[in-house]
Amino acid sequence: MKETVMKNEAKEEIARWGNTVKQDPYYPAYHIAPPVGLLNDPNGFIHWNGTYHLFYQWMPFHTGHGAKFWAHLTSGNLVDWEFHGPALAPDRWYDRSGCYSGSAVEQDGELVLFYTGNVKNAEGERESYQCKVRSPDGVTFEKLGVSIELPEGFTPHFRDPKVWKAGGSWHMVIGAQTEDKEGCVVLYDSPDLESWQYRGILASGLGYMWECPDFFHMEGDVLLFSPQGLEEQGADYRNMYQSGYIIGDFDTGFRTEDFRELDHGFEFYAPQTMEDDFGRRIMIGWMGMPDGGEEYFPTHDFHWIHQMTLPRELIQKGDLLVQKPLVEMEELRTRKVAGGSQEKWKGKIPASSEILLQNIEGDVDIELFRYITLRCNNGKAVLTRPAMDGSGEEWRARTLESPLTEIRAFVDHSSLEIFINGGETVFSSRIFPEKEENSGIINGDLSLTVWELRRQT
Ligand code: FRU
Repeated sequence: MKETVMKNEAKEEIARWGNTVKQDPYYPAYHIAPPVGLLNDPNGFIHWNGTYHLFYQWMPFHTGHGAKFWAHLTSGNLVDWEFHGPALAPDRWYDRSGCYSGSAVEQDGELVLFYTGNVKNAEGERESYQCKVRSPDGVTFEKLGVSIELPEGFTPHFRDPKVWKAGGSWHMVIGAQTEDKEGCVVLYDSPDLESWQYRGILASGLGYMWECPDFFHMEGDVLLFSPQGLEEQGADYRNMYQSGYIIGDFDTGFRTEDFRELDHGFEFYAPQTMEDDFGRRIMIGWMGMPDGGEEYFPTHDFHWIHQMTLPRELIQKGDLLVQKPLVEMEELRTRKVAGGSQEKWKGKIPASSEILLQNIEGDVDIELFRYITLRCNNGKAVLTRPAMDGSGEEWRARTLESPLTEIRAFVDHSSLEIFINGGETVFSSRIFPEKEENSGIINGDLSLTVWELRRQT
């Protein structure tokens, strides 16, 4: 009953504000964004019965954080998404302050979700429960209650279960904080997704809390997570919180000195991966950053905030995870609006577009919308944009993995994703240039193509 009421209230918010949201010139054309309210982490990403399912952390009632819902989307091609409204509402004693992040697996033909029930009591103390949901049809979602309670030795910052199957057994990683305030990932095993055995800490160190862990096997075993509390070191760890990975070994361990950041832009956090039916390991992230200036985003006025990144295929190359835009993204191209080779190019960049620079020799300098610049110089890439709080300019930078040959950039009204050398180095950022501003300046010895991209249907 309560569940139906809450889900209806969420839908009423869409009816009330949906048109206002879509009228925002900053609203994306082909990225996933909320129909109203706030979006954060991707959840429950899975390719199930030939359909891609994605859920996300959703606050329908305002553009701040709080008692999160899970919103649900499906897609046949990872480009066009259908929104199905709320799948989970925070309506039980064990999740009343939020159905927090989690993941999806398939068991006996059914979809099974695990998420964290977040509870904050009147004293502001936190409780956390790992909860289970089943869906026989991907349309109705039945909560099955609490699967795992907080074990000894950890604070209630214990959340974001990611489940997978290997060697006939189910495994779950959970992001956690030890009682002495160290970030870590803990491991559970289950023969049947019913009873869970605590197996201990899989990796720890690096900051005071690790959120949204993920685990998968490529050439090596990859542990992906979002640590909080890392000190800025030169060009590294400049965002409020980080997201990255350690390539190691499930049996012998993961060394924190092997931690690498995934994305070097201003907004990227809490990514999640899944393996699709074609054997691709696909990652999608939240193009946002908690406590990282979101209060200054101009989209609050239109009753929405944040969006996802594009889904990306992960490929291991030595100790690096390369993030390749999916081939499906080419379906978005409608018309070519520029092409050729010119050392100095100046032209119009549509608000929804793809820019491809190939055969690059030497340095490259890009300025888009009189707002953001990318300078690739002597093997280093530097991105600058105005600081969100208006206090001058901010920058992010990265030494490239190999000599610069290609830059591919996706522009979508208020976001920019830059893939250098096939995705060896990636920068994802929100951009808020003057509305209608469409100028692009590209300098360098290269060949250029610009396509206008269509809206997702
Ligand atoms: C990461 C996170 C998760 C939590 C969720 C709540 O952005 O803080 O740890 O489950 O967001 O919305």
